[in-house]
Amino acid sequence: MDTGKKKYIYILFLLLLYLGVMWENKHQQEKTQSLTDDSAKEVITAGNDVSAYQERKKVALTFDDGPGESTKKLLDGLAEREVKATFFVVGEKVEQYPDIIARMKEEGHLIGNHTYSHVQLNALSCESAMEEIRKNSDVIEQIAGERPLYLRPPYGECTKSMKNQLDMFLVLWDVDPLDWSVQNTECIVQSVLRDVEENDIILLHDIFDTSVEAAFQIVDSLTKENYEFVTADELMFP
Ligand code: NI
Repeated sequence: MDTGKKKYIYILFLLLLYLGVMWENKHQQEKTQSLTDDSAKEVITAGNDVSAYQERKKVALTFDDGPGESTKKLLDGLAEREVKATFFVVGEKVEQYPDIIARMKEEGHLIGNHTYSHVQLNALSCESAMEEIRKNSDVIEQIAGERPLYLRPPYGECTKSMKNQLDMFLVLWDVDPLDWSVQNTECIVQSVLRDVEENDIILLHDIFDTSVEAAFQIVDSLTKENYEFVTADELMFP
């Protein structure tokens, strides 16, 4: 081989080597670029999730007069949907269903007082009224390990002097579909979905199957409308 040919092959070799190195570099750059794009996308998606979470409208489901036969099914459905609710329980029923009360507590629901024997407090003497409340708190405390801080007086009524004597917060309601009276799932759901607004407290009774079924439909519908279900204390003291 003459010197010219050798030179020619040498230059060709260098050229191929150069092209090879360039190709590899470009390939690496593309890889890095696509990785960066993906991470950027992840950050943006996470950002959107956070803002969507912050914009969710709060609402509270509250259940009075239980626990009862339907409460277990209600707790199952709420757990499935990862929803927390508030239960204003009656002492006589608490004694019948201690396991249900323990489960409420364990699953993060708020347990409130609805008197020991579901009495209309303002028809009683202040002393008897306080005894009804205290007795129920005792029963709840024995099972749940702490005294309830929230009271819903049956029929929403108690006197001013009772209120002054109480060391508890009163919780009434904003949306009342009269579920105990209609006992029709579709009517209850329609009534609640028509009336509900942000930060509302919804009143239902977990002693009726129709109300439990309605609660599930209400949760499913309102979740799609960007509502978030919280316990009553979270609405009162955000
Ligand atoms: Ni009641």
